[in-house]
Amino acid sequence: MQYHLSTFGCQMNEHDSERMKGVLEGIGYREAAEQDDADLILFNTCTIRGSADERFLGNLGHAKRIKRERPDTIVAIGGCWAQAQKEVVFEQFPFVDIAFGPGEVSRLGELVARERLDAVGAFSFDGEFSGSLPAKRTRVHQAWVQISVGCNCVCAYCIVPTVRGKERSRPLDAVVDEIERLVADGVREVTLLGQNVNSYGRDLPRDDRATFAELLRAVAGLEGVSRVRYTSPHPKDMKRDVITAMAECPEVCEHLHLPVQSGSTSVLKRMRRTYSRERYLDLVGRLRETIPDISLTTDIIVGFPGETDSDFLDTMSLVEECQYDGAYTFVYSERPGTEAADAMEDDVPEDVKKERIGALVELVQSQGRERAQRFVGTTREVLVEGPSRTDPDRLRGRLSQNIAVNFSGTAEAGTLVPVRIDRATSVTLAGSLVEVAVPN
Ligand code: SAH
Ligand code: SF4
Ligand code: F3S
Repeated sequence: MQYHLSTFGCQMNEHDSERMKGVLEGIGYREAAEQDDADLILFNTCTIRGSADERFLGNLGHAKRIKRERPDTIVAIGGCWAQAQKEVVFEQFPFVDIAFGPGEVSRLGELVARERLDAVGAFSFDGEFSGSLPAKRTRVHQAWVQISVGCNCVCAYCIVPTVRGKERSRPLDAVVDEIERLVADGVREVTLLGQNVNSYGRDLPRDDRATFAELLRAVAGLEGVSRVRYTSPHPKDMKRDVITAMAECPEVCEHLHLPVQSGSTSVLKRMRRTYSRERYLDLVGRLRETIPDISLTTDIIVGFPGETDSDFLDTMSLVEECQYDGAYTFVYSERPGTEAADAMEDDVPEDVKKERIGALVELVQSQGRERAQRFVGTTREVLVEGPSRTDPDRLRGRLSQNIAVNFSGTAEAGTLVPVRIDRATSVTLAGSLVEVAVPN
């Protein structure tokens, strides 16, 4: 039996997909190269913006055709779109056999087995996280580690709390155990994952309670862990103890993805982000003071209901002030069931949204290009990931600042090596391995 899995959405979904593969291979499935070869066609879906829905629905058409030709094929849909559409999915897409939410990855094996026994269509939507399931990783020396699921924030535009539920943290011991197993399996870099990663631990039972800063230190201190990253933190929970832990643990990378969403205090207020422009800028100032070489990236939404020209200019000036190395930029997309969809009018005209996103993208890109130049002429520690994707004679890796570099020389994947940076082309760097003299 063969399965084919297509993944949409964020790193949470990428990681859940590794778990889905682990579960399926545990019950005897192998991965098919094409949907056309698969007995089980599976989608792990996203519904964060309208464009995510459209992309997925475009792909679903092909599965429908396969199902018509080979009615024995099982079509399964997991993830956030499935969760959001749970009332109507079987009605609207009768060729779908299985639908399940992001909390039900652990039950995938059982759902598939029931389907093979010809049981009636399966629903399953409210369960636990996938952290303890078997996984099939795509990367050899790097791994995602889920430390929490769900989100307790109420950002007015966001569907995530609806589809991923309330925040639940994994006990520190379980996280550490998993990382120790990953290290034994060759992993050198871990990325701690959560929708709001730095509010970690508050929901744990009193005896097990741990803060995010404590978790960060515990993970950084593990034998064999060369690098620790995490995503995404919420600015409101970026407390001093976290910044200090970052500064004091050399394993914790000098990169922070710190979503700002808007540079206008009044927009931030309506978004219910719970911080002002000034507080965000103050946080960025403290980060740069404590970790001078830190690279910052962010998420920004333009065209949120009521966003004026002057609000947008506040976003532009904030971007200039923060000196980001990169940013994901989005046009506001109304999500049914969110506060913004229910209580605010999507009143920024399409052409204005387009103009704003164009100007913002240009600023972000030119800033990224300029910022990348600061590495040229310096020697940096790079975690080797494997051969370069464009030139197999060269190697590929990343700086602590999460910037990709292609370089010449020979080095083993998974090791940390010094690389001299010779050039910066847009946001990718090029360099050469610095040969370290080995005393004999
Ligand atoms: N939990 C993470 C990521 C959430 S989704 C966090 O809070 O940082 C990733 C990004 O998508 C968000 O940061 C936001 O910038 C964007 N986004 C979320 N909902 C959106 C919407 N309705 N329209 C446009 N962008 C949205
Ligand atoms: Fe969505 Fe806000 Fe939670 Fe991020 S913090 S997942 S944007 S509700
Ligand atoms: Fe999308 Fe769900 Fe992630 S909606 S962005 S896959 S949490």
